[in-house]
Amino acid sequence: MALGLAVTIVLVVVVLHFARGTEWESAEDITDELLERRAKTVPETDFPEPMNRSIGGGASAAAAGAVAGGEGGGTGEAELEGGADEETSPGEIPDDEVEYFDVEFVNEGKTVEVANNETLLEAGEDEGWDMPYACRQGQCVSCAGRIADGPSEDYVVHDNQQMLEAAELEDGYTLTCVAYPREEFSLETSEAP
Ligand code: FES
Repeated sequence: MALGLAVTIVLVVVVLHFARGTEWESAEDITDELLERRAKTVPETDFPEPMNRSIGGGASAAAAGAVAGGEGGGTGEAELEGGADEETSPGEIPDDEVEYFDVEFVNEGKTVEVANNETLLEAGEDEGWDMPYACRQGQCVSCAGRIADGPSEDYVVHDNQQMLEAAELEDGYTLTCVAYPREEFSLETSEAP
C-alpha cells in the first residue's frame, strides 16, 4: 500500500516536471505610441516647453522657437552694431579718410591746418600754445571759443558737447575740446558766452 502510494507520487511529480507551461507573454509596450498620440492633441507653441509637451509637435515647436530666438539674438547684435556706427566720433575717422581745413586762430595770430579727426584744442596744443581747458569732455566751458562768422555748427562738429545752448551755438560759440572742423573759419579762443 505504502509502496503503491510512493510510486504514484513519483509519477505525478515526473509528469508535472515534463508538462509544458502556458508561456505567459507580457502585453505590447504602447507607451511611445500613446505619447505621440497625446502630443498631437496639444497645440504647438512658439516657446520651448518642459516634459511631455516637448514630445512630437511640442518638440518641433521648441526647436523652432530656439532657432528663432537665436536668429533674433543675431539681429539684435546687428542692430546694436549699427547703432554704434551711427555714434562714431569724428575723432575715429581713419587717417586715410581725413580732410584738412585752414583754421585761423585769431588771438594767436596764425592759421593752422586742422584735420577733421582732431579737435581745435588739440590743434592749438600741437602748436605749443597754452590753450584753456578743464574737463576736455564738453562738460564745462573752460575751453570755449567763438567763431565770429557763426553759427558754430556750420563750421565744426561737436562730439557730445553738453553745455552750450542753441542760441549760444547760433552766436558762434564752440567748445574747442570737442569741436572738429568741417569748414575753414576764424576762431577766437578764450571767448565764453
Ligand atoms: S574743457 Fe570742459 S568743455 Fe572743453
